[in-house]
Amino acid sequence: MSVNGPVATTVNGPVAIILAAGQGKRMKSETAKVLHEVCGRPMIRYVVDAARGAGARTIIVVVGYAADQVLESLHGEPDIRFATQAEQLGTGHAVKICRPLLGDYQGPALILVGDEPLLRPEPLADLLTRQKQEGAACLLGTAKVHDPMGFGRILRDSAGRFLRIAEERDCTPEEKAIREVNPSCYVFELPLLWDAIEQIGTSNAQGEYYLTDAPERLLAMGRKVMALNVLQSDDILGVNTRQHLAQAASVMQARIQDHWMTEGVTIVDPHNTYIDSRATIGRDTDIYPFSVISGNVKIGAMCRVGPFTHLRDGTVLEDRVEVGAFVEISKSRIDSGSIARHLAYLGNAHVGRNVNVGAGAITANYDGTRKNETRIGDRAFIGSGVILVAPVNVGQEATVGAGAVVTRGKHIDDGETVVGVPARRLPTRTDQP
Ligand code: UD1
Ligand code: CA
Repeated sequence: MSVNGPVATTVNGPVAIILAAGQGKRMKSETAKVLHEVCGRPMIRYVVDAARGAGARTIIVVVGYAADQVLESLHGEPDIRFATQAEQLGTGHAVKICRPLLGDYQGPALILVGDEPLLRPEPLADLLTRQKQEGAACLLGTAKVHDPMGFGRILRDSAGRFLRIAEERDCTPEEKAIREVNPSCYVFELPLLWDAIEQIGTSNAQGEYYLTDAPERLLAMGRKVMALNVLQSDDILGVNTRQHLAQAASVMQARIQDHWMTEGVTIVDPHNTYIDSRATIGRDTDIYPFSVISGNVKIGAMCRVGPFTHLRDGTVLEDRVEVGAFVEISKSRIDSGSIARHLAYLGNAHVGRNVNVGAGAITANYDGTRKNETRIGDRAFIGSGVILVAPVNVGQEATVGAGAVVTRGKHIDDGETVVGVPARRLPTRTDQP
C-alpha cells in the first residue's frame, strides 16, 4: 500500500478518481461512510467495480476520514492508488490533490463519488465514449429525478445548452425546482481540468472548493462542456444517512434477485429473501421464503433452500442438495444429493454425497479456542439429535443413531453403526409387576 506515491511516471488511461474522504457525519459512525455495506459489500467496492466496468485502467481513491480502514479494504489491487486528503476542503480540493499521482497524464478522467453504490458501468462507459467523440473538455452525466433534494441542479440556457451547476445551498427558489440533477459522474479531459481547478474559489454557502464549479470555469475558458442525461434515478442514490443505506440495499437486493431469476433460479417470495451480492446460484434451484444467504456462498443447480435457512460465508452446496427449515450452514461443503431438512447446524464440515442429516443434528465445531472440522462420508446416515463434537470423522455408509454424542477425535469406520446412550427399557402395560 502506498499513499501519495511513488509519483506516477506512466499512467494507463482512462483514469477514474473516486472521492471518498468525507466522514459522512449523518451516518453517526466510527466507520468510514464508503465502507458501510450494501448486500454484503462495502459501498466503495461497487463504485470501483463500476469504474472498472466502464473501462478505467487506473483508479485513484481519495481517502481522508478513517483512511486506514479504506486502504485496508481495497488493499492489494494493482490498478488502485490512493491520495490522502488530510483536510476535507471540498470536492474540488479532493480532485486537485490527485494531480501529483497523475504526473503528466493526458486523457480522460472519470470522476465519481464513493457514496453512490448503485452506479452501473454502462452509462459511465457511455460517458467516456461520448466525451471522446465530442472532444469535450467536460462531459457531465445527469439524471432527472422526482425529488431533487440534496443534489446540485443543472442549469441550461433557453436553447438547452449547459450553463452551470448550482449547489442546493446556493440555489434560488426557481433553481431549486429544477429536477435535472448532478449525480457527480463527470468525464474531464486532463490536463484541462487542472487549469480549471486552479481557478475555483470558496465563495459559496459552505466556503469549500466545489468541483461543481469546474465545468463553468471550462466554459468561460472557451472549452466545450456538455451535460447528457444518461443516468437513471435508481443509479444515483447517494448514501448520506442510514435511511439511504437501507434504500440502496433494497434496490441492490432487487437487482441481485432479478439477476438470479434471469439465470433460472426460482425465488418464491423475493421480499422475504436475502441474497448476498457475492453468492452464486445454479439453475432450477428453488429458494423458499425467509432464507438468508450471506457472504460468499455457492449453491449448485436443482437445490432446494428454505424456508428459514441461513447459509453463511464459505458454504458450498453442490447440485441437488436440500436444506430446510432452521438449518444453518457455515464454511462447509455439502456434496450432491445430500439432505438436511430440519433444525441442523453444520460448521466447518465436509458432507459427502447422498448423506442424510437428521432433524436437530449439529456439528459442535467450536471448542472455545478454535474451529474444528467434521467429515462425513458418502451415504452416511446421521440420526436425529446427533452431536458430532469436532474434530470427527464419520465413514462412508456409517450410521450414527439418534441422540448419539460422538466425542472429539472419534473416527467412525466405513459402514460402522454407533448409537447414543442406550435407553433404559421402559415398562410397558403388558409387563407384570
Ligand atoms: C456533491 C455535489 C453535488 C451532487 C452531490 C451528489 C459538490 C460541491 N457537490 O454534493 O452537486 O449533486 O454530490 O452526487 O461537489 N469528498 C471528499 N473530500 C471533500 C469533500 C467531499 O473526498 O473535501 C467526497 C465525500 O466523501 C463524498 C463525495 O466527495 O463521497 C461527495 O461529497 P458530499 O459532501 O457527499 O457532497 P454533496 O453535498 O452530496
Ligand atoms: Ca453525497
